[in-house]
Amino acid sequence: MTRTYAVIGDPIDHSLSPALHNASFAFLGLDCTYIAYRIPRGELDAGIADLKKIGISGFNVTIPHKVDMMRLLDEADLECKTVGATNTVVNTNGHLKGYNTDIDGFLDPIRKRNIDLAGTDALVVGAGGAARAIVVGLARQKARKITIANRTPENAESLASFVRSLGVESDNVDIATAGDIASSFKIIINATSVGLKGIGLPISTKNITSSSIVYDIVYMPVETPLILGAKERKANIIYGWEMLIAQAMKSFEIWIGRPAPYEAMKLTLLGRF
Ligand code: ATR
Repeated sequence: MTRTYAVIGDPIDHSLSPALHNASFAFLGLDCTYIAYRIPRGELDAGIADLKKIGISGFNVTIPHKVDMMRLLDEADLECKTVGATNTVVNTNGHLKGYNTDIDGFLDPIRKRNIDLAGTDALVVGAGGAARAIVVGLARQKARKITIANRTPENAESLASFVRSLGVESDNVDIATAGDIASSFKIIINATSVGLKGIGLPISTKNITSSSIVYDIVYMPVETPLILGAKERKANIIYGWEMLIAQAMKSFEIWIGRPAPYEAMKLTLLGRF
């Protein structure tokens, strides 16, 4: 029987996860398929019940459900528990187990570049599920301090206290003025959806420098407004598509039990841009 996988979220029409996973299934000759399933905010419970009804084998979780999905899991692996958010779920006869492949997905491009973040200061823009995984990743890299900027200040403060619980110094700054102090960070990460479809700048880029690393988790378009602005400032760029592939490969391995075909994923992705 064909095994079905999905990505749930809203918006979901821009998602490249179906293309990545379907290309990998085809490449390896697996009888599996992967769909995008839109579940609006507030409709998660009903949406998950529907997925169970069709016998979904597993699914990815994206904006805005990564944190909320935790309460619908029957089991969570250690990383998923640590982060308090899930992006990968396995369904075994109605038993849902959550994982979080965003931590490794986020760190993969940093490791590939041999970037050492030990003792450095980071700015994370955003305070949602993706940001939670990212701060865990930064803590693993032994960052000295993580500053949070977010549209809703209460969410920024709650993420900052989460960071402190990981043993890393943390504070939060006004998102409207965060760009003014951009030069004081070694790495700046956009963990919001701002920039999707080429619309919006999460922070001002005027004080980004050539020694800054700017990492945008938005991957559509490849060159987001933040990346374009950072390139003008001659900063070092890490693209959202790099994290997208890395987290997708980890999810694939969890579901299928064998390594994902990187080249098939990369060719598919670059062909779509
Ligand atoms: P994810 O699981 O992908 O992280 P999320 O948990 O819904 O998704 O978090 C989305 C993040 O993007 C949040 O930090 C959100 O800010 P709020 O805490 O204020 O909601 C941020 N975000 C989304 N749309 C935004 C916008 N138009 N401007 C600024 N920040 C935005």
